[in-house]
Amino acid sequence: MISERIQTIQTSPTVELAAKAIALKEAGQDMVDFSVGEPDFPTPAHIKQAAINALGQDRTKYTANAGMFELRRAVCKKLKGENNLSYSPQQILISSGAKHAFYNVMMSVIEQGDEVIIPSPYWGSYPEIVRLAEGVPVIVEAHETNGFHITAQQLKSKISSKTKAFVFCNPVNPTGAAYSEGQLQQLADVLHDTNILIISDEIYEKLLFDQIEFRSFAQVVSSAEKRAVIINGLSKAFAMTGWRIGYAAGPQEIIEAAAKLQSHSTSAASTISQYAAIAALNGPQEEMKKMVVEFQRRRDFIVKKLNNLPHLSCAVPQGAFYVFPNISAFFGKKYKGAVINNSKDFAAFLLDAAQTVVVPGSGFGAEGFIRISYSTSMAIIKEGIARIANALTDLQRENG
Ligand SMILES: Cc1ncc(COP(=O)(O)O)c(C=O)c1O
Repeated sequence: MISERIQTIQTSPTVELAAKAIALKEAGQDMVDFSVGEPDFPTPAHIKQAAINALGQDRTKYTANAGMFELRRAVCKKLKGENNLSYSPQQILISSGAKHAFYNVMMSVIEQGDEVIIPSPYWGSYPEIVRLAEGVPVIVEAHETNGFHITAQQLKSKISSKTKAFVFCNPVNPTGAAYSEGQLQQLADVLHDTNILIISDEIYEKLLFDQIEFRSFAQVVSSAEKRAVIINGLSKAFAMTGWRIGYAAGPQEIIEAAAKLQSHSTSAASTISQYAAIAALNGPQEEMKKMVVEFQRRRDFIVKKLNNLPHLSCAVPQGAFYVFPNISAFFGKKYKGAVINNSKDFAAFLLDAAQTVVVPGSGFGAEGFIRISYSTSMAIIKEGIARIANALTDLQRENG
């Protein structure tokens, strides 16, 4: 009954976990949810007002399939002003979220058997969407010891005659690692004499700490105008996950192909959300800046607390709102008589023993780790860490 295409892909681990957490919450359990992938801040008032105005003015009909011209122009203005990249509105596709933009682009460029290089730990949708497009994900492992950055040599070693594209996320979900301009340049140099497409997911670009300045991969790679596609959106930077607005910016030929696919699936993104997105891109950015300051405060707190726990280590992330601690020292321990063998078992143990939801690293292609999202209040972070600490103490006791 179910197609082979769908049978070859997995459900998103974050969606699975979130569903479990919701079910437990609904059953009356007092859960701490560290699995969320969205800012806990409200969408700024002026953005919501723009949507209300659109409704009041009956702007509730279809827009152009690739997005309203005014919104595509606002994206171009953003890319020029913030990233020093020149695009025309014809090179922009507005989709229903960055995930949708990524999907449309990958379905438009990947042929059966094409290899697509993806650094791990990765956002779970990358390999699945590559598989849906009948491509072959080729994973290049970023190690904890290297701050979860891949090196130029590692990237080079994965390039073959079948390599079609390199999917790059910066800052990274799930590790929060961010690449310096020097590191970006080294990766770009490896790609210099190739015609490999670069798909650069920059959805966390605004969520950078310690005064690090964001550089788009398209700013450093050669022939970017011919082969780099930027994927971005408003979900994370403007706390707009539910509005479902993302975009792709790249060579017109690719954008037109992706728009053609979109025209036969979802058509244009929500009109009301597009009006809100114009206000977000063209309006004041103060709320976002305040959000970043608060995320950095929480990062500092949670990293310190986690590193104080015995047998657990946590690298310091430079961006996003996740930490990715190493929990492999707990493998082999028994909880209620069953051995904890992997990160999924460890997450299940925390769910039961600490009523705390985390995402197993295996869902991001990295066994031995868990992802904790600190996109929740400081009070909840403190409570969750205290629960984890108690559960780990009990686990140590159970294991003598
Ligand atoms: C790396 C990465 N890219 C893209 C997305 C998708 O964002 P959107 O809500 O715009 O579809 C996410 C969301 O979690 C993400 O983590």
